[in-house]
Amino acid sequence: MNRLVWMASVAVALAALAAPASAQLKPEELVKLRQGVMIGQKAQVGPMSAVAKGEAQLSDATVQQAETLAALTKLAPAGFAPESQKANVPTKAKPEVWQKNEEFKKYAQTLQTEAAKLAEVARKRDTEGFKKQFGATTAACKSCHDDFRAQ
Ligand code: HEC
Repeated sequence: MNRLVWMASVAVALAALAAPASAQLKPEELVKLRQGVMIGQKAQVGPMSAVAKGEAQLSDATVQQAETLAALTKLAPAGFAPESQKANVPTKAKPEVWQKNEEFKKYAQTLQTEAAKLAEVARKRDTEGFKKQFGATTAACKSCHDDFRAQ
């Protein structure tokens, strides 16, 4: 192999490594991914809301839910890759997700930041901090839905 060909193949291999997790998925799979991740987020928020309302104790399970939520918020954006627009399946994602993509990404980033903070206060068993931060986290869900999800 000459040097140029070798360098090109290394570049291709590196690009493949750097590619987002979504790159291997079909458009329909991307839609399923994002909808499944959204439902996964809801599944964490549900039991945590009892703690936020003071109806349940902040427990090990709460810490796990907050950590799982924080991880899911990092996966969600992959399902909104531009190719997902080609999918011929029902979706409530508005076209604005891609038309105003910078704004959409900012909302996604805000949720990641708030969810990471929620996991932090949960790990500290800071119930008062948790109650406040749970509000900030779910507000981040709502503001994105208001602008980017069809009713
Ligand atoms: C950055 C924007 C954004 C954020 C933040 C966001 N969502 Fe969503 N969510 C969407 C969009 C867009 C859809 C519609 C997806 C589709 O139908 O393809 C959606 C759909 C959903 C659905 C319906 C899934 C289905 O197909 O049945 C649930 C449940 C949901 N989100 C929960 C949440 C929760 C809980 C949070 C916060 C922890 C959250 N979302 C944060 C944009 C967002």
